[in-house]
Amino acid sequence: MGETMKGLKRSHRCTELSAENVGQQVTVMGWVQNRRNLGALIFIALRDRTGILQVVINDQKVSKEIFDKAYSIRNEFVVAIVGTIEKREASNDKMKTGDIELVATDLRILSEADTVPFPIEENCNTKEDLRLKYRYLDLRRPDLQRNLMMRHKVATLTRQFLSDEGFLEIETPVLTKSTPEGARDYLVPSRVNPGNFYALPQSPQLFKQLLMLSGYDRYFQIVKCFRDEDLRADRQPEFTQIDMELSFVNEEDVMDVNERLMQLLFKEVLNVDVQIPLQRMTYKEAMERFGSDKPDLRFGMEINNVTELVKNSGFVVFTDAIANGGSVRAINANGCGNFPRKGIDSLVDVAKLFGAKGMPYLIVNEDNTVKSSFGKFMTDEETAALVTAMDAKAGDLVLFAADKDEIVFNALGNLRLEVANRLGILKKDDYKFLWVTEFPLLEWDEDNKRFAAKHHPFTMTLDEDLELLDTNPAAVRAKAYDMVLNGTELGGGSIRIYQKDVQEKMFAALGFTSEQAYDQFGFLLNAFKYGVPPHGGLAFGLDRIIMLMTGSDSIRDVIAFPKVKDASCPMTEAPGTVDEKQLKELGIKIDIQGK
Ligand code: AMO
Repeated sequence: MGETMKGLKRSHRCTELSAENVGQQVTVMGWVQNRRNLGALIFIALRDRTGILQVVINDQKVSKEIFDKAYSIRNEFVVAIVGTIEKREASNDKMKTGDIELVATDLRILSEADTVPFPIEENCNTKEDLRLKYRYLDLRRPDLQRNLMMRHKVATLTRQFLSDEGFLEIETPVLTKSTPEGARDYLVPSRVNPGNFYALPQSPQLFKQLLMLSGYDRYFQIVKCFRDEDLRADRQPEFTQIDMELSFVNEEDVMDVNERLMQLLFKEVLNVDVQIPLQRMTYKEAMERFGSDKPDLRFGMEINNVTELVKNSGFVVFTDAIANGGSVRAINANGCGNFPRKGIDSLVDVAKLFGAKGMPYLIVNEDNTVKSSFGKFMTDEETAALVTAMDAKAGDLVLFAADKDEIVFNALGNLRLEVANRLGILKKDDYKFLWVTEFPLLEWDEDNKRFAAKHHPFTMTLDEDLELLDTNPAAVRAKAYDMVLNGTELGGGSIRIYQKDVQEKMFAALGFTSEQAYDQFGFLLNAFKYGVPPHGGLAFGLDRIIMLMTGSDSIRDVIAFPKVKDASCPMTEAPGTVDEKQLKELGIKIDIQGK
């Protein structure tokens, strides 16, 4: 059984002590990182969230009882130690407290610990599954503690900044109706309304618009959102948004306040200067140059359109794609001409994964001769024209895609990232921000054979494109903007529709009848009869911001208790089954085939 703290009060955290405290009596408490036994001396590395302090138990300075107690200590025991700070004989530059040590006079074991399933240390190689099962131990590791402390700092600075800018933090419901962000909802059955379900919010979108209508002028919230979608490194089923909405603003106003917020966060937290205004790029330009609506600007390898150069060639892969309304485009993977055959084959696999039927390529050899996978179908002049157009030099590898534009962009955009990753040229502390603007308002939903909102149905068109909503919906651009950092979408938002007739046009373009629109969003549409200020907003993914700021590979590393791929939690084992009685109360019967 552990001893009590009675009569003891912690005076400092471990690394709050320094050479200035030499000679002072202090009381520290924490976990035992390790214990080394050198005969008459026992050394304990004591850890808390601030770091590590070395403690010495000298058999000349403590009673036999205390010395024996120190001898019995194992890793991860929780102890309280009273003693005097002394200068170390040989200081350790790698530790913040490397020039001092605590010479113990008293010691209590507050709690013992079983042997932990993996070492509590930075960059441990333990499999993530095991770490997540014992997340409470994993969270003791200094790298995760640093991540969560940085997260706290970002949240605190954000609250202060937005508050200073006139935003009010207002909470919105978690048990609510379906929101229009386009993912699958998490549903919660209602006991008192059998057969009815709440939806957990995919975002506070509708509520924040209502708050504008209610006159709150500027709203923000650091808020959990829930989306039942396939998980990835930067996607969790529950994640946190820095969500905001502003009245009487245009795109410039929303972008301005948000780039100033990012500038502040990067300066205060990382001491990195972000130049504002951030670069802007239209969606069209981003797709044409980088094959992505979240381009990574840390490197070149931009996409070139070579359709004109190959349209009369004898290579049917190119000419068929062009005849079918597509294009032929390429990237120059500079210096990759020496990729082994296998390496190139695996790039072909990447291209196929992203929809291409294949990946023609050419290599400029060191002697400037050209080797190409489609050489026999081209004249020397045509090949030379491609080499010139792609600015390919000796040692370069040029990768082609020929198909509908959408597939070409997707394949080349992903090949570009794959090549950069293989070359290891992407530096995590090279921060390249931009705004992507003028997104298409609608996208074609092939499954349902109708248009769907690319952002959500309340997003306004560019003024000059409003007319096109009736005649050419696919061409309409939105007053929508995403902030992108190093190939990750940090946040996105839009200026909203606030006029009833425009909203009706939008619903018509989406193929909604008036009844369907009222069924889903009636409360918003009714509210909009009562005087709506022009408004717009944005939401950042807080987890993603912290992931990039900490240089983590996944948002799981910046969330205290994340979920794994199948949306389960290895520690709590959620989701789980429930009692028959609970189901009965809810009027729910389980009918899963095969179970
Ligand atoms: P959007 O759907 O673009 O916009 O979401 C905003 C930001 O939230 C983050 N995000 C996620 N982060 C982790 N896991 C997820 N599953 C996940 N899904 C989204 C991203 C994204 O940029 N209501 C609108 C905002 C608005 O119009 O004001 C919205 O939710 O970083």
